[in-house]
Amino acid sequence: MIPLGAFLEVAADAAGAALIVAAIGLGVLHLWRGRSVGVQLAVVAFATVGATIAGIIAITLAMMISPHDRAVALTVVVVAGCVGLGVSLLLGRRLIAANRALAHAVRADPFVRPGRVLPAELAELAGELEQAYERLADAHQREQALEHSRRELVAWVSHDLRTPLAGLRAMAEALEDEVVADAGTVGRYHARIRIEVDRLTEMVDDLFELSRIHAGALRLTRQRVGLADLVAEAVASAEPLAMAKGVRITGAAERGLPLEVDAFELSRAVRNLVVNAIRHTPDDGTVDIRGEIQQGMACVTVSDACGGIPERDLPRVFDVAFRGEAARSPGGGAGLGLAIARGIVEAHQGEIGVTNEGPGCRFVIRLPVSG
Ligand SMILES: Nc1ncnc2c1ncn2[C@@H]1O[C@H](COP(=O)(O)OP(=O)(O)O)[C@@H](O)[C@H]1O
Ligand SMILES: [Mg+2]
Repeated sequence: MIPLGAFLEVAADAAGAALIVAAIGLGVLHLWRGRSVGVQLAVVAFATVGATIAGIIAITLAMMISPHDRAVALTVVVVAGCVGLGVSLLLGRRLIAANRALAHAVRADPFVRPGRVLPAELAELAGELEQAYERLADAHQREQALEHSRRELVAWVSHDLRTPLAGLRAMAEALEDEVVADAGTVGRYHARIRIEVDRLTEMVDDLFELSRIHAGALRLTRQRVGLADLVAEAVASAEPLAMAKGVRITGAAERGLPLEVDAFELSRAVRNLVVNAIRHTPDDGTVDIRGEIQQGMACVTVSDACGGIPERDLPRVFDVAFRGEAARSPGGGAGLGLAIARGIVEAHQGEIGVTNEGPGCRFVIRLPVSG
């Protein structure tokens, strides 16, 4: 047994020597903090061995152990140190390899998580990178879809807006130059000019709405609206158009279902569906507007008797500037109504879809019901 006093003396000498080496080790680690983990682990191994050797030297100097014992102790420490260094270098290499695998995965497109087992921190980083990549890919896809519809819009503006403008100019010139002089034709020209101006105004208004939707600038002013009120209003506002075309319009809705929606925008979406339905339904046909709750969603359904939309057109009717064959006649719509309806519904976190049903087609708007 070592007496307590001698033991404390050994401990103090060893601790003093070890502290000096540790301080040097920490200094080197600080200077080399930008170096590879392999190098830093080697510094740790050297510092450990160095601290032990310094301790042994300190107690030898204090003549607590004999030269023979010192030689034995130093040999053991150096051998252990070599093993420690080897293990550190091996660990360093594994970390470097794992890091390289991760860097390689990040450079690859798409990001594929490295197949090897990664240390916990790097595995967490890989998970974060995977999610970041997915978010980036989503954003890129949205960006491309937006760019595509923007290009379509530009093409639309240059064609559909210019054609009626050219017609208006021709009519205005004819009136100015008095090429048309008889009262009947002059009256017809004036009426035609007014109709075209109304149509252009409507188009510019639609274009403005669509650009607000695409820019994400559609600010919804949500308020509580009953599903029944929404349907009743849609029927009432479409009645004059339906009557003029000889189309019957019916509506029904479950009462007492409050929705948290922008009533102005949503009415616009429903109106676009109803106007289409009336336009494509022959005289004597019926357009039906229905409001109900299905699977926890509020549904507004507009059914008509248009004879069905061609299967190949079904997935495209909501695209900007899409018009079916029959609708491409001069004076027809601009193909923006359904794109606007979809934009408004999606801004409400809802869905819009179309299927062919019975004598025509059925457009359905589904909206989340407010709590
Ligand atoms: N109720 C409907 N019945 C038949 N076809 C429809 C109906 N609604 C829309 N469509 C088709 O979808 C196209 C796009 O509709 P929309 O975006 O409202 O543009 P627009 O009414 O200006 O043609 C129409 O041209 C038409 O071919
Ligand atoms: Mg339309």
